[in-house]
Amino acid sequence: MNRKTIAIIYILGAVMMGNLFAQEVKLPAPDRTGGMPLMQALNERRSTRAFKPEALSLQHLGDLLWAAWGYNREDKRTAPTAINAQEIDLYVVKADGVWRYDARQHALIQQDDQDRRAATGTQPYVASAPVNLVFVADSTRVNRAGYVEKWSAVNAAMMAQNAYLYCASAGLGGVVRGAFDGKVVAEALKLPAGHSAVLCFSAGWPQEQPTP
Ligand SMILES: Cc1cc2nc3c(=O)[nH]c(=O)nc-3n(C[C@H](O)[C@H](O)[C@H](O)COP(=O)(O)O)c2cc1C
Repeated sequence: MNRKTIAIIYILGAVMMGNLFAQEVKLPAPDRTGGMPLMQALNERRSTRAFKPEALSLQHLGDLLWAAWGYNREDKRTAPTAINAQEIDLYVVKADGVWRYDARQHALIQQDDQDRRAATGTQPYVASAPVNLVFVADSTRVNRAGYVEKWSAVNAAMMAQNAYLYCASAGLGGVVRGAFDGKVVAEALKLPAGHSAVLCFSAGWPQEQPTP
């Protein structure tokens, strides 16, 4: 095999791998009118750190993502952001790989097919939590005078609280997490330059309750 043939095989392989990872999963339309009354959800909100191993249905996962950071208006979202920067990307790290939430399409775009859950936190339960959300700030979108860097963490916290309330409403367990190594997460998620994880959130069916 000459060098040219090897190069062609290599490029074809890379293109095929790229296509594999570009897999898109359309999520079912979010249930925008369901759920428990708000005051009841607030009463139920709590942190859960022990999950059953089973995956969330696409409806539950899609509703969780929409609650956290979906579009509820033409160009605005379920969570506020300082100066409407909308600089947070939401990654979904599951046993079947790493996905990015495309809120506009309400779809998941695969980034990687490896189980990277353990890399998203320093606590043991993280590796087996069915879903680990990673809120990633894109600094290139807020690279302007007057923007305060810590606002990205505040913005992500707004989304995490939405996730908590959805979990409470749906009977899911969840916990927001600041205990992770940003470098490890960036490597595992292959984050582009200027992107960094600011907060994580683990979710799944809680161990102490039967799955509805
Ligand atoms: C900014 C922030 C970071 C947190 N980081 C972690 C974490 O890394 N791991 C964890 O298990 N819980 C974490 N928590 C959850 C808190 O421990 C939890 O909210 C607190 O113990 C109160 O319990 P509750 O959420 O059930 O009311 C965090 C909470 C916040 C607000």
